Amino acid sequence: MNITFCCTHTNPKAWLQALGAALPEHDITLWDAEAPHRNAAADAAIVWAPPQAFFDQQPTLKVAFNLGAGVDALLEKRLPPDLAVIRLDDAGMSVQMAEYVLQAVVRYFREFAAYEQDMRAGEWSFRRPRQRQDFTVGIMGCGVLGQRVAMALQHFEYPVAGWSRRPKVLSGVQMYAGDAALPDFFAACAVVVCLLPLTPETQHILCARNLKHLPVGSYVVNAARGAHLVESDLLALLDGGHLAGATLDVYTTEPLPEDHAFRRHEKITCTPHAAARTLRDASVVQIVGKLKQWASGTPAHQLPGYVDLARGY
Ligand code: NAP
Ligand code: GLV
Repeated sequence: MNITFCCTHTNPKAWLQALGAALPEHDITLWDAEAPHRNAAADAAIVWAPPQAFFDQQPTLKVAFNLGAGVDALLEKRLPPDLAVIRLDDAGMSVQMAEYVLQAVVRYFREFAAYEQDMRAGEWSFRRPRQRQDFTVGIMGCGVLGQRVAMALQHFEYPVAGWSRRPKVLSGVQMYAGDAALPDFFAACAVVVCLLPLTPETQHILCARNLKHLPVGSYVVNAARGAHLVESDLLALLDGGHLAGATLDVYTTEPLPEDHAFRRHEKITCTPHAAARTLRDASVVQIVGKLKQWASGTPAHQLPGYVDLARGY
């Protein structure tokens, strides 16, 4: 089997070494953008945000393993007919995302940033404890990451609400489903956490019209994709006092421009798309396992992480 590797913003050397060691019976090569004639026709690809030229030169590609959970950068391309797309299914990301969301929620709920500020100002003061039972954390997108985050929040006894496309039952979580339920879901949240895939339905879902359903003084965490958020709407709602603050990991433009208003806004905490990193060892184990299953005849649609292209995730 010919396997090609085409991952932007990724140093290929260590990946190719690890993949080659785990799949000695297969040819794994780095896709060469500069010399297209040198690229053999591949059966399978390992990709992250590949250029259109990659797919144009691989018209007979059968399966693409995405080196991340989100496939939005892949699905915006013209794909070969009958290509199956398989994404990373957790691979060590969900526990990282749980850590990320938990630290943002705890930091806001317990007002640790304010305590730190007071200390720097030479003060020794206390704030009235917030009521945990009134502090519902709402998770938009209750898939692999959202469910792990819900579990972590429940461990710290936060009331948890969830919003998904289709109705589902999660133990101890107040679930909402579908567009019609979004206003009621938002109205129930003290913090809303976006963990949705980016699709035409979810783009700009964090806009003023929707965010205004959050109670005054609520907090927003976006760790999914920058295009979920209308950045100017968030700034207006923060500056107008409807929202208390935000923790953001993802942005419309990445890297976040040096002069972007988010960088120095006192109510916004920014991280550089680092909430849940792709872990090489765990990802190689997962991709190699699925490649072997596929090579031995398991249909791609039966592999965990199979992406429904019509649905977009
Ligand atoms: P997933 O398992 O596919 O879960 C997606 C969830 O979103 C599902 O619960 C799905 O509902 C829900 N959903 C999709 N479209 C919806 C809609 N129109 N309305 C309501 N709910 C909708 O995905 P995941 O592995 O948890 O990953 C989620 C996203 O996190 C990725 O796509 C990626 O963009 C982002 N991510 C970010 C980082 C980071 O470091 N910042 C790292 C990894 C991933 P159903 O359950 O009804 O299908
Ligand atoms: C990271 O953002 C991912 O989608 O894995």
